[in-house]
Amino acid sequence: MLTRRHIISTRDFTKEEIDYILSRAEELEIYAQGLGKGAGRKSDLLEGKILANLFYEPSTRTRLSFEVAMKRLGGDVINVSSPDTSSAAKGENLVDTIRVVSKYCDIIALRHPKEGASRMAASFSSVPVINAGDGAGQHPTQTLLDLYTLKKANLLDKLKIALIGDLKYGRTAHSLAYALSLYGAKLFFVSPEALKMPEEIKMDLKEAGADIFESIDIKEVIKDVNVLYLTRIQRERFPDPAEYNKVAGTYRITTDLIKENAEVVILHPLPKIDEIDAEVDQTKNAQYFIQAFYGIPVRMAVLSILLER
Ligand code: NCD
Repeated sequence: MLTRRHIISTRDFTKEEIDYILSRAEELEIYAQGLGKGAGRKSDLLEGKILANLFYEPSTRTRLSFEVAMKRLGGDVINVSSPDTSSAAKGENLVDTIRVVSKYCDIIALRHPKEGASRMAASFSSVPVINAGDGAGQHPTQTLLDLYTLKKANLLDKLKIALIGDLKYGRTAHSLAYALSLYGAKLFFVSPEALKMPEEIKMDLKEAGADIFESIDIKEVIKDVNVLYLTRIQRERFPDPAEYNKVAGTYRITTDLIKENAEVVILHPLPKIDEIDAEVDQTKNAQYFIQAFYGIPVRMAVLSILLER
């Protein structure tokens, strides 16, 4: 059902499809660990296949975890990791790049500053395109690893989650909110007035039956949720740096704040800047580093399903 498909937006998934990907990730997790229980185990599921990582925006985790996922499955990777060193710097348009690169590889992961770039690329590609982040649009594989983390913590089916921070420009929040509406989660949107979840997304979510509460204050919601999903204020998306300065540093999770809900699980797609106090990293509430690790089995699942023979 998902084989050879493009992955552009979490809106394109059914709940059954997401559950299928997450269960495949569970099967493959044993191959994801270089140390520990999976040490020495190898998979050759994608032997002979090539992933092209086209990243026209900064990335650490997403690009590396796509690369590791492909390699752990026996596949190979080619990379463009900076627009300055590719023909984009000579003025080549994305369409021509995709036309050519899709003949060099079996699957493409694309990160691009323009919203809609992946959907456009998909229509010119002869191989599946995975959206690895398109401007302020979507980041569907991040959502899959967020859901995987929630599933592993046994929280996916009774979820009350606060999405906190930059809900206007944050593509991880957009993708996650859509997917969570399939799981009947209660959604709390916490952001400064200027960075609220876009109206059209809220309308879509309400149409899908989502239960939404909005606030500008974490304290107002912390007792009512089991998960805090923090996001970075997306400085690079602000047309005017003065507007960024007005909202920078609005939220900060501290060990004192967590005392108000000792069981709360804290997630973050990373990178985090100043929205989580360093002391919080040491608490059992902080789950964002294991969340980032889950990017490996989840991307292994996505790649193996899309390229199934
Ligand atoms: C996120 C992104 O690129 O949207 N990072 C990631 O992929 N883990 C979040 C962010 O940059 O703030």
